[in-house]
Amino acid sequence: MGYIIKTDDSARLRLGIQSRLYEQSSVDLISRAGTLRGRKILEVGCGSGAMTLHLARAAGPQGTVTAIDNSPAQLDASRELVTENGFENVNFFEGDINCLDHLDNLYDLVYCRMVLHHVADADHAIREMVRSVCPDGYLLCEEPVIHDGSFCFPPSEAIDEFIRILRSCFSVNGRDYNIAFRMESVIRNLGLQIEHSRLHHPLLNSRQDKLLYAMSLSDLAPQMIKNGIVDPSSASELHEKLVHLSNSETTMTWARMHSVLARKSNGTERHYSKA
Ligand SMILES: C[S@@+](CC[C@H](N)C(=O)[O-])C[C@H]1O[C@@H](n2cnc3c(N)ncnc32)[C@H](O)[C@@H]1O
Repeated sequence: MGYIIKTDDSARLRLGIQSRLYEQSSVDLISRAGTLRGRKILEVGCGSGAMTLHLARAAGPQGTVTAIDNSPAQLDASRELVTENGFENVNFFEGDINCLDHLDNLYDLVYCRMVLHHVADADHAIREMVRSVCPDGYLLCEEPVIHDGSFCFPPSEAIDEFIRILRSCFSVNGRDYNIAFRMESVIRNLGLQIEHSRLHHPLLNSRQDKLLYAMSLSDLAPQMIKNGIVDPSSASELHEKLVHLSNSETTMTWARMHSVLARKSNGTERHYSKA
């Protein structure tokens, strides 16, 4: 089963807003993952490359970033961005997070943002990433929280309805929308030491930021309609309500990201042998 969200230009616009909202916190967490200059970094599900740039900068010219995604279109966008910005230390591969054993190296940092909730077996994906971390290296996973509907003040029925159908869509497609909160215990049970755990709630201040929910609905609507979760006219009615909400100056909305930075000590190996 493939990626259930569109990966075209409109989806990239939405990803651009999300990246901007989370960028500062993500860069701060990367800076906590030891000295990365001259080191090997693996980014899984690099998308259109927003974080690939920061990772390439952190590794420096003597270090390398291996960026993997299972979408050729996303890899093309990411490659273009990295080249435009003059980085020559990034290697791109088309590949699946569930199958990282073809990689020859172990990495000082394995980084993965907003990918695990798209994967059919997120626990297996985490095991694969843990196996790719070198002794004393780090794993940094960041996942958006779509656990409940509390993303708005005053409360909005449209946001609640959107979160309800979003969760249905992930469930019907066998995705774990609770992985943002589960991943910390999964990582700990694989023997890694949790060094930092953060729940970040950036506010969506401008009209364009507040459009995030309407944009997400547009990107997911074809899959939701295909799965019978919503009919086309209800989807377009809900879309209108979400656009309307983004125009309101008195409504506050926000997004959430849970991030876990974990370290693998030398004794970790016995816990994560392949299942
Ligand atoms: C929401 S985007 C996040 C992109 C990027 N990590 C960021 O934070 O901007 C999710 C990315 O994961 C990729 N992806 C989804 N399932 C994957 C899988 N099984 N293996 C590798 N990449 C996957 C998608 O193609 C998409 O580029």
